[in-house]
Amino acid sequence: STSTLRYDGRVAVVTGAGAGLGREYALLLASRGAKVVVNDLGGTHSGEGASQRAADIVVDEIRAAGGEAVADYNSVIDGSKVIETAIKAFGRVDILINNAGILRDRSIVKTSDQDWDLVHDVHLKGSFKCTQAAFPHMKKQNYGRIIMTSSNSGIYGNFGQANYSAAKMGLVGLANTTAIEGAKNNIHCNVIIPTAASRMTEGILPDMLFNELKPKLIAPVVAYLCHESCEDNGSYIESAAGWATKVHTARGKGAVLRPTIEDTVTPEYVEKVWSKVTDMSQAKHLEAIAHASGSLLEVLENLKNGDKDAVEDTFTFASRELI
Ligand code: NAI
Repeated sequence: STSTLRYDGRVAVVTGAGAGLGREYALLLASRGAKVVVNDLGGTHSGEGASQRAADIVVDEIRAAGGEAVADYNSVIDGSKVIETAIKAFGRVDILINNAGILRDRSIVKTSDQDWDLVHDVHLKGSFKCTQAAFPHMKKQNYGRIIMTSSNSGIYGNFGQANYSAAKMGLVGLANTTAIEGAKNNIHCNVIIPTAASRMTEGILPDMLFNELKPKLIAPVVAYLCHESCEDNGSYIESAAGWATKVHTARGKGAVLRPTIEDTVTPEYVEKVWSKVTDMSQAKHLEAIAHASGSLLEVLENLKNGDKDAVEDTFTFASRELI
């Protein structure tokens, strides 16, 4: 039997919590004892205008259910103001869910500087500014749980979303480093890759799918990632329709691009071994940058020592054909 996951004494900041996924995160955390800052600028889905209504309605919902919440109407670009609201109202910040977002879909040719900049400002810079402002508080209390919101549009690309997919993949990079910098202070940072029915996906997702993709089904996954019992740090979790999985990067075995350390690399040699360079049949996930550089040192060592077997192992084909 598992005990109920509670958030008593925890303060959570949920950005873009006036609607969609953020609203569900805020409602769930508050229903389980967290004090919640409901941040929402209240503009249009393309980032125009502002209104206090979106945040106010969710704060009212939380209070009506007996929970504790305050509204914050700042843009996430002013991250320090958002976090200041938490400190003023509740004296701390334990959980930060970077969720606020907008869309300005255009093909690459039609994307204006403003379409590019605003999408990057809200998603990427906004998540950075809120994280940066929350970090000193989390370090001091030796505890923090941070979520970055990515998208399959970033992981796989999506026609007409150059600005959005770049920002969403940027958030994966931001999460990677946040996870490393926070680790020694028990500050964990994980990525959620959601697919949900919201005003953002209305008219984009097929009707049948849209109706099954309730944001409510993703909130428990994000809530678990934000709980003190969750040990994940630096994970990417995709979730939708009451299903979730971990996603990660993979690196192939690779191939050496020259017969000996004295040789140079030529485009012809690269062409010759390309099928080995791109062979993913022995691909592995690397846990850290040190493993990537470590394996390079190994390749160089083997080449230097003329360790035929070890080098052969990485470029059997090349050495036979081209020496
Ligand atoms: P939504 O449009 O319902 O909610 C986003 C909220 O963010 C809105 O209430 C909006 O007012 C607020 N917001 C926008 N700019 C803001 C700013 N500068 N400062 C503060 N608040 C701001 O959209 P949804 O679907 O709930 O999206 C939430 C997050 O999930 C976004 O980051 C989105 O990119 C991401 N996402 C959503 C997917 C989906 O299928 N719905 C798929 C992949 C990612």
